[in-house]
Amino acid sequence: TIRVNIGKALGGAVNEKDVFAYAKAVEESMVKLHEGTGKGNDFLGWLHLPSSITEGHLSEIETAAKQLRDRCDVVVVIGIGGSYLGAKAVIEALSDSFVQLKGSGSNPMVLFAGQNIGEDYLYELLDLLKNKSFGLINISKSGTTTEPAIAFRLLKKELESQVGEGEAKKRIIAVTDASRGALRKLSDIEGYKTFIIPDNVGGRFSVLTPVGLLPIAVAGFDIRKLVAGAEIMEAECGIDIPFDKNPAAVYAATRNALYRAGKKIEILVNFNPKLHYFAEWWKQLYGESEGKDHKGIFPTSVDFTTDLHSMGQWIQDGERTIFETVLSVEKMKHNVSIPKDEEDLDGLNYLAGRRVDEVNKMAELGTQIAHVDGGVPNLKISIPEISEKYLGELIYFFEKACGISGYLLEVNPFDQPGVEAYKKNMFALLEKPGYEDATKAIKARL
Ligand code: PA5
Repeated sequence: TIRVNIGKALGGAVNEKDVFAYAKAVEESMVKLHEGTGKGNDFLGWLHLPSSITEGHLSEIETAAKQLRDRCDVVVVIGIGGSYLGAKAVIEALSDSFVQLKGSGSNPMVLFAGQNIGEDYLYELLDLLKNKSFGLINISKSGTTTEPAIAFRLLKKELESQVGEGEAKKRIIAVTDASRGALRKLSDIEGYKTFIIPDNVGGRFSVLTPVGLLPIAVAGFDIRKLVAGAEIMEAECGIDIPFDKNPAAVYAATRNALYRAGKKIEILVNFNPKLHYFAEWWKQLYGESEGKDHKGIFPTSVDFTTDLHSMGQWIQDGERTIFETVLSVEKMKHNVSIPKDEEDLDGLNYLAGRRVDEVNKMAELGTQIAHVDGGVPNLKISIPEISEKYLGELIYFFEKACGISGYLLEVNPFDQPGVEAYKKNMFALLEKPGYEDATKAIKARL
């Protein structure tokens, strides 16, 4: 399984005693989660999700995915935030880095929309789709989010004009609430195939529901292995596992001990570009869960070694308010060795015959030593390889640790009241019906 090593986070700002001092509070947080007695306890559906997903549910998702895979060369997944990042993270991690150029064999190309309001992005997407046989997965728990709603309106129109309304219905799947929201209403009226996002699973905890599983299955990846990996971590991070053996408990305690010691920023580091979007998913999970009541670690991320040539300076020498959590992938899928060159003009012959990954691993180790020497505590999460199973493990591990960590911080980790502020202003500025007073008020401030 994945393993957490906090050894290099200790000895500076915090020591082992500081981490173990959290053991009791972690236990209490665990009880709150498992007994449903903490803040936000109506959003705990993710806690036992891996072990409760049924064979029938997985088959239904695979069947719907096959229907899209059989009909479409491109599937556009529409969603934002928790209705986007999990699928994007897993698909990016498992895909060939050049899938967009090489094509994906028998798998449809999976593209995303509704995760921004970029006019050029949407124009260029519509332009691309003009010559493609495509389908849509429209994901929105509330069913009313503006960004995906705009994208869906545009893409639905394009699809219907290409293939007609009847065929379009067969190529559109909606993932939304069981009964509420505009997307539920529209889907029922149009007769789309739908999947339900359970009421008790919040957006950023929903990757193991059809929100993540359907797009991942469409992209050709094994959702059973992903769920099986998550189930392993559900057991490994369970309430019955002692503090020091429980990876989620140790991670949650260590990051809180560091935060209390003034380390206010956590940088999720990868040395594998395939994990870029995994870090985006993680940032949402922790940022939206913990950034409340004027508290919370600021989660950010870097891709190394790329960002060692930009952010590396700040991390090594800037303000000492940071710590790093490194996602360390042990085994690569492929083997590339550095060739020998007779002339050796670039002076690289000392590396001839050695694998590129050996260089990367030494960069990782060298960076860890340098950053620890520079006063940056370093946690390491070892991942045997990038696969569905280990991604499933990582997902559940981070979710469980996030729930514990939020309770340690004494916030409600499962709500997100702060994200409404921009929406209210945007609707007022756009003169949305019902916002007349807010429109007047905001315009007076301009
Ligand atoms: O985690 C969350 O709840 C949010 O990020 C939502 O997922 C995001 O705002 C999208 O919401 P919806 O699925 O309702 O369109």
